[in-house]
Amino acid sequence: MSWEESTKQKMLHLQLPTDPRWVNIAEMNIEDILVDHAYCEQKAASSCISLIVNFFDFPELVDTLTPVVAEEWGHFERVVEHLKKRGYPLGKPRKDEYVVKLSQFVKKGGSREQQLTEYLLMNALIEARSCERFKLLSKQIKDEELKKFYYELMVSEAGHYVNFIELARSIYDKEKVNARWNEWLAYEAEVLRNLELRGDRMH
Ligand SMILES: [Fe+2]
Ligand SMILES: [Fe+2]
Repeated sequence: MSWEESTKQKMLHLQLPTDPRWVNIAEMNIEDILVDHAYCEQKAASSCISLIVNFFDFPELVDTLTPVVAEEWGHFERVVEHLKKRGYPLGKPRKDEYVVKLSQFVKKGGSREQQLTEYLLMNALIEARSCERFKLLSKQIKDEELKKFYYELMVSEAGHYVNFIELARSIYDKEKVNARWNEWLAYEAEVLRNLELRGDRMH
């Protein structure tokens, strides 16, 4: 099975595909996309660091996420390089409506395992959506160098998606994780449906 087929099965459980107009307007706003993307990578690294610090007593999580921090920070560095090459400054962080909306769905309380599951599923979802967007960018934009870069990131974020989902399934009851994952997927589709389509944002 090709990488593409196997990930389609594993990953594109996303319930709402990205509006096909997004990639065209994103290509016209590539400076904004690169800046927003840089901060997505920074947030991905920061989020893994927070999980390690707050859930230090889950050795499997520490083992899995420690190398992911380095990978996400490596992505940040590479996006900054692409900005530099094109003569664009990093710019300031932007408000991430998508992530704000997703974090409102995190269930408070319950056991530590339940809390951790919420964070892992939210992260898995962000990875899955990012992967879908990188795929669109890698297939459709004209800049050859960025095409290759986005393809590589699509593969890397797909791996992170699997890391988060598998961690959740090993830390908490598998059936409960799967049921909650379906709720997260439905919620994410709703968030995306109500979010303004912007070509200056990764999400
Ligand atoms: Fe990344
Ligand atoms: Fe990632």
